[in-house]
Amino acid sequence: MKDVVTNGSKADVVIIGGGVIGLSIARELARRKLDVLLLERGRFGAEASAAAAGMLAPQAEADRDDDFLRLACASRDLYPEFAQTLYEETGIDIELDRTGTLYLAFTEEEARELEKRYRWQKSAGLEVEILSAAEALSLEPKLSPEIQAALRFPRDWQVENRRLIGALVCAAQKLGARLCADVEATSIKIEGKRVEAVETSTGRVHAAMAIIACGAWTDLIRFGEGDLGEPLIRPVRGQMLCLEARPPIVRHVVYSLRGYLVPRRDGRLLAGSTIERVGFDKSVTVHGLREIIDHALEIAPEAAALPVRDSWAGLRPQTRDGWPLIGASEAIEGLFYATGHYRNGILLAPITGKIIGSLICGEEPQSFTERFTPARFKIK
Ligand code: GLY
Repeated sequence: MKDVVTNGSKADVVIIGGGVIGLSIARELARRKLDVLLLERGRFGAEASAAAAGMLAPQAEADRDDDFLRLACASRDLYPEFAQTLYEETGIDIELDRTGTLYLAFTEEEARELEKRYRWQKSAGLEVEILSAAEALSLEPKLSPEIQAALRFPRDWQVENRRLIGALVCAAQKLGARLCADVEATSIKIEGKRVEAVETSTGRVHAAMAIIACGAWTDLIRFGEGDLGEPLIRPVRGQMLCLEARPPIVRHVVYSLRGYLVPRRDGRLLAGSTIERVGFDKSVTVHGLREIIDHALEIAPEAAALPVRDSWAGLRPQTRDGWPLIGASEAIEGLFYATGHYRNGILLAPITGKIIGSLICGEEPQSFTERFTPARFKIK
C-alpha cells in the first residue's frame, strides 16, 4: 500500500528529503526500530542522487588532510558492509566496484602537484601509488599517450548510484519506514523551542523530531513565519554525459584536473562534469557538453568514436563553507540537519545515516564528526 500523509498523521521522526541521504537515514532509524516517515517532494532520489556518477573517491578529490577527508574516508570504508547488508535486505546489488581510481597529470606542473598529493597522503597513512606514464598506460592502454604521470588510489571505488537509490528505498520500506513521494514539506512548526510538527502539501504530521535532508532545496523549508535570511545552501549545477562503451575503454574511474570518466558494468561510460552557479536551472547546455567532451577526450581520445546515450544535470547542494551540515540544532530540540553534501552525497550516505542514528539514539558519535554540526552557522 502507498504511504500517504493526511492531517493528523504521526511519526517519531519525520525526514524531509528522499535522496540517498534521507533514505540512508530512514533505513538506519528503521533498523533502530523508530517510527519513521520520509517526505519527498518528487520521486525518491530523482535529483542529485540520480544525477551523480557514484564515485567513492575521497582521496582523489582531497587537497589536504583534514576532518572532511577523515569523514569521507570513514564513509567510503563503510561501503563494503553497506553494500553487503543492502544486498541481504533487498536482493539488489549496488555494483560496488573496487578496481580503483586513477588521477592523471598532463603537464610537468600537474605531475608535481600529483607528487605532492602522493607525499602528504603517504605520510597520512593512506594507500596511494605513484605511476609513470608507461605504468599507467599498461594498466589502462586506451588512456591518452600525452599523460606525464598518474596516481592510483586502490581504495577509491565507485558504486551504481541509481541502484543504490532503489536498494535504499526497498530496504527502508522492508524495515518498516513509511516513505511518501510527491509530498512537499513546507515548514516545521516549533513550540517552545521544540519541534512539534511538519506542515506538508497534504496535511500536518505530528512529530517531536524532524531531519532536514533536502539538499539544494533546504532553504525552502520555513520555520513558522520566520525570515529566510541569507541562504544556507546554494545549488551548483553539474552536467553529465553518458556514452556507450562496449567493449569498455577503461576499467578504473579516471580523473584529470578538469574532468572524469566512470565506466559502468553494463557498458555505459559516464563523463563529467561542470560546476555552475545558475540557480535551480537543470538544463544541459551546448557549452557544458563541449567542456565535458573536451575533458573526456583529453583523458581517452578513443571516446570520440563512442555513441552518445544520454545527458542530464543535477544540483549539488553547497553550504556557505563547502562542508556538509550533519548534526543536531543547538537552538531547537528535536531538529537535525543532514544536508549540504555538495559533491559527496553518494560517498557520505552511509556515515550520515550512522551519525544521525547515533545522535537520535543518544549515542556518542565519532569525535571528528563534531566539525560538521550546524552550530557553526547562525541558524535554527
Ligand atoms: N563528485 C563528483 C561531482 O560532483 O562532479
